[in-house]
Formats: sequence, structure tokens, C-alpha cells
Amino acid sequence: MIRAIVKAGDLSGFESIGIHGGLDGLLTPIQAAPLTVKDMDGLLIRGGTILGTANSGKFSAKTGMGEERKIPAQTLNQAKANFDKLGLAALVVIGGDGSLTTAQQMSDMGFPVVGVPKTIDNDLDATQMTFGFDTAVACAVDALDRLHSTAQSHNRVMVLEVMGRHAGWIAAYAGLAGGADVILIPEIDFSFTAIREKINSRESEGKHFTIVIVAEGARLEQGQQVTAGTDSTDRETRLGGIGHLVADKIEKCTGKESRCVVLGHLQRGGQPTQWDRQLCTRFGVRAVEMVKKEQFGMMVALKADGYMGAVLLKEAVNKIRCVDPKGELVMTARALGISFGDMI
Ligand code: F6P
Repeated sequence: MIRAIVKAGDLSGFESIGIHGGLDGLLTPIQAAPLTVKDMDGLLIRGGTILGTANSGKFSAKTGMGEERKIPAQTLNQAKANFDKLGLAALVVIGGDGSLTTAQQMSDMGFPVVGVPKTIDNDLDATQMTFGFDTAVACAVDALDRLHSTAQSHNRVMVLEVMGRHAGWIAAYAGLAGGADVILIPEIDFSFTAIREKINSRESEGKHFTIVIVAEGARLEQGQQVTAGTDSTDRETRLGGIGHLVADKIEKCTGKESRCVVLGHLQRGGQPTQWDRQLCTRFGVRAVEMVKKEQFGMMVALKADGYMGAVLLKEAVNKIRCVDPKGELVMTARALGISFGDMI
């Protein structure tokens, strides 16, 4: 993404400056440095970001379970003064719903902002896909492929916990592509009775192992999500831990040895897939075009027809896209006999 912006920007006559450590880098003392085309060598195959990032702190626009927080005017004013001091013409903000909500608030107070959708969660309603998602799914599929060996050889239930926050996209796509037998996602309520029935039915077919993939945001029988760590006022609640709960409960109710693997931040690193490479390149080039045309207060988006488009930031944020329980993805999985832990 950064590579595409810097290279396309250069050919359009722009100089690029990287703000370090997230938007906090715009506060005093400013943390920013030029990004040259030469600096971009070798970046295409690297995951993560060379600029550092922040999903908590002074510019955090989301707290708790996704509630919007207003960034203090004093913080925004200081950032704007430094932005002007640097002589910048535009600010490209790359991130998920939280960062883009920050971008929207900055746009409202006069920053010339262009947003770019980047999150492994794939949960922004205004774009068909976010970049980072495909690489995270590839990582989860690879993990499922590897877990099959022990599941099969040891006759175990193997549970893989994946990220995705309040949406089950990673679990649903990876579960389908990686041959999971049970997919648990926040969008579909599950019960251990249904999971036990699925495992027992596999046993009766002579299949003495079961692979379960669970999204970190999947809800327990009473509807609650499992959180990790303490709540903080300047960031979203951290999800995690459901995988172990699910594995323990399955072991208790089926008597089958069950183990859990939490994939965690492995999903956020490594070499990007070809899809993510071309998607972030297209997003970056489009972002530069938008800067050129001074189309500010907008976000680059992948449209349903497969082409690049743009949407107003204010229409893109605070709208989480979830897996449709009656949609084609879920129906395809169900047609194969994959259980979502419900009684259908
Ligand atoms: O939003 C991306 C994401 O990776 C979520 O899937 C996950 O819940 C969260 O970030 C983890 O954040 P952190 O690295 O701060 O624990």
C-alpha cells in the first residue's frame, strides 16, 4: 500500500512523508520522515507496516465493543497545526473501522483526508474486501491443513481460534477452504448440544476426528463474547479465549480428547498473498488519484463489479459488515454438511 502511494505519487509529482507510530506521530514532537521511491524496494513482499501503528491512545476513535469516541479538539488542533507546519497537501489514513472513524473526525475538522480500507477482519460495509484479509485467511487455511495431521492420527478434536473481531469472515472463509467440520462465528448462535451431535455423527461414520474453527468473537450460549485482558478507556475490548473454552467443553461433553490452537497475530504477518498485493496496489494508486482530484473526506473502495471506486468516509464508518447467516457462503458450507453449531 505505502509502496503504491509513494510510487504513483512520485510519478504525479507528489512527495510522500510517512507519519510514524500512527497519527500520534503528528503530535509534538512530530515523528515523520520522507518516503522515497528507493525506500520502497522489497516492500511488496513484506507484511505489516514500515511506519509503525497504534490502535489505542490519543487518536483512538473506538472503545469497548466498538462505540465511537470523540477525539479531543485539543489533540486534533495540535495535529492540524503540525500538519500545516509540514506543508502537507493531503493525509492518507490506512486502517480499519477504528482508524477510518478517526479519519472521518479529522476530515470534519478540516484535514484533507483520503481513507484506505485495511484490516484482516474484512468487516467494512462500504468495500467488497479490505486488504490484509486474504493473507489472514491463507494463514488460517495453512493452520487447518497442518492440524488435520494430528486430528486424524490421534483421533482428536482440534479447535483453531482465529481473529476477526465482531465478524466471522476469517473463520467462515478459512473453514470452507480448509475443510473444517464445525465453524463457529459471531453471526450464528451455537450450542454444545449441536456440536456434540455433529461429532457423534462423524464418529458413527467412522470419522474419529473433528476440526473446529472458531472466530474470537463467537458468542457463548448466553450470548456473551470471551474477552482477554482488562478493559481500557482508550481502546476496543480485546477478544480472545473462546477456543480453549470450546475445546474444554467439547472434551467434557463428548469424552474425546480435544486441543486448542490460537492462531493470534500470525494472521497479521508474513508474505502477503498475490490478491492482497494487487488489491493494496490498486487501492494505493486510486488514493493518489483522489488526492490529485482533491476528493477528500472519502475512502477508496472495491465495488461489487470488481472495479475501484470511492465512498464518503462518513458513509463508510461505523457500519460493520457481517457474514450473512442465510447468505451463499454459509449455505455453501451447509451443503457440504459443515455445522455452524446450530440445530439446523
Ligand atoms: O482488527 C484487527 C484485529 O487483528 C482483530 O481481528 C483483533 O481482534 C484485534 O485486531 C487484535 O488487536 P491487538 O493486536 O491490539 O490485540
